[in-house]
Amino acid sequence: MTSNIRYMSGVKGLKDIDVEGKRVLIRVDFNVPVDSHNNISDDRRIRLALPTINYCIDHNAKSIVLVTHFGRPKGTFYEKYSLINIRKRLERLLERRVEFIGDLDRSQDIVLASSSQEVFLLENIRFHEGEKQNDKELSKKLASLCDVYVNDAFGTSHREHASTYGITEFMDTKVAGFLMMREIEAFSKALEEPVRPIALVIGGAKISSKITLLETVLQKVDKLIIGGAMSNTFLKALGYDMKNSLYEEDFVKTAADVLEEAKKAGVKVYLPVDLVTTDSIEKPIDVKIVPAQDILEGYMAVDIGPATLKLFSQAVELSNTIIWNGPMGIYEIDKFSKGTFKLASAIADCYAYTIVGGGDTADAVDKCKEADNFSFISTGGGASLELLEGKILPGFKNLDRVVQ
Ligand code: 3PG
Repeated sequence: MTSNIRYMSGVKGLKDIDVEGKRVLIRVDFNVPVDSHNNISDDRRIRLALPTINYCIDHNAKSIVLVTHFGRPKGTFYEKYSLINIRKRLERLLERRVEFIGDLDRSQDIVLASSSQEVFLLENIRFHEGEKQNDKELSKKLASLCDVYVNDAFGTSHREHASTYGITEFMDTKVAGFLMMREIEAFSKALEEPVRPIALVIGGAKISSKITLLETVLQKVDKLIIGGAMSNTFLKALGYDMKNSLYEEDFVKTAADVLEEAKKAGVKVYLPVDLVTTDSIEKPIDVKIVPAQDILEGYMAVDIGPATLKLFSQAVELSNTIIWNGPMGIYEIDKFSKGTFKLASAIADCYAYTIVGGGDTADAVDKCKEADNFSFISTGGGASLELLEGKILPGFKNLDRVVQ
């Protein structure tokens, strides 16, 4: 087992402790996507936190305080980042009343005065500057609301913030919730006891944001399938003229090195052989499918082409473990979504263990209605990326351990 997964699997979970009569604080990640009217467009993160919350209710915790961030309000109050709507959705899903605590300064009085198994939701913790600064005073204040700290915010476990990390310094009992454990188990299955061959499908815009991942996985995977704007930098490294396509000049050499390292490690690399190109992303009048070597003057790559889709689909079909992180094109725009959506279906149809890193990839899989056909979809974008990179996530670091 790689050391980071082994370490994170060794933390105590809720079932290792007794919450009866205890005040419990659960750090959840209710940072859910919303539409232009501020309606929650996907409540998966809330639904997946319910087992932990319900367990504490069913095991007679004295009070349950839920803490989350929502958006990036930069340490100050913004109405659009208030948790009012999230509270309503939570009440509906939990089928019980959730008390809202708008004022952190009053939270201790309110929580400690409660006696009847109340569930509280604290207003967006990122309204306080101290959250992102991992401030001691804020950490202490949160710790004063509970006897037991449960971290179930996998999506935020790569952040060293007061509610995900600092609070543990002031707690005697600190464990992981069921969602955190499920995520680690899922990644462990893909990375620690994989059925080979393992394919990593990687996409998204930039090599620079995934370079550590690319370097780490070369020792673990059998196939590396690269799409999205990231592949433009690799194609450039092969000497192709990418015309107006987005690529990272500063990382062309890195891309060439990755290809070289992959060859040495015996990892098969798959790059696009054809591309969907356009003259404009905003107003795509002319869309052309061309061989990767033949992008027209003034055009840019925005998706993988049909031949590439076939190539990638065959490559994943022959794999027994598939990890996917990053879309194949600008899937948010209809005309450029085919590569990502069709590849999602191809992966979903495989008889393999299929795992999707969160963020954009999870969103794409959801949009093309394939979510139920994957083995596991992570709730963490940045968090799953850092986990794949081999890091121990701060949200796990200081939790109690089963074996000390
Ligand atoms: C996420 O959505 O990836 C998590 O909630 C973390 O959010 P952040 O990137 O704003 O820290």
